[in-house]
Amino acid sequence: MSANSVTSVSLDPPLILVCPSKSSDTWPLIRAAGRFCISVMASQHEHLIRRFAQRNIDRFAGVECIERPSGIGLPDACAWIDCAMRDEHDAGDHTIVVADVLAIQAAEEAEPLVFFRGQYGRFVAPDRDS
Ligand SMILES: Cc1cc2nc3c(=O)[nH]c(=O)nc-3n(C[C@H](O)[C@H](O)[C@H](O)COP(=O)(O)O)c2cc1C
Repeated sequence: MSANSVTSVSLDPPLILVCPSKSSDTWPLIRAAGRFCISVMASQHEHLIRRFAQRNIDRFAGVECIERPSGIGLPDACAWIDCAMRDEHDAGDHTIVVADVLAIQAAEEAEPLVFFRGQYGRFVAPDRDS
């Protein structure tokens, strides 16, 4: 599933959080597995973000995947974060899920996809000389 609620929480131990909706069909499956892989999507991945936000389709059909220690990752991502569930906290119509980071790998060259005001764009690094 597409999710932009992924946030770093702790460095020692390494923890992240993600907030799935209580209406999510995917979350109960991930919870049962106990592990999941977050692919941090890159600037060319708008079509995949849109696809993984759709319901009632086979999201993985025709999509190249890579094996990660905690599950499935998407190729050419900015980074992959392998996670194991630790805690859940009730939060309105979402659940705050805190997970242990088992492994992390970052791509040297990838640029992140940015989601802002309902639109997709690119991150522009500040010009350090000006
Ligand atoms: C950019 C973007 C960010 C999203 N972030 C979240 C999120 O953090 N949590 C969430 O539950 N849904 C989020 N969604 C919506 C889910 O991807 C969408 O509701 C999806 O259909 C859920 O599928 P599921 O019912 O199989 O879990 C986001 C969608 C988009 C396009």
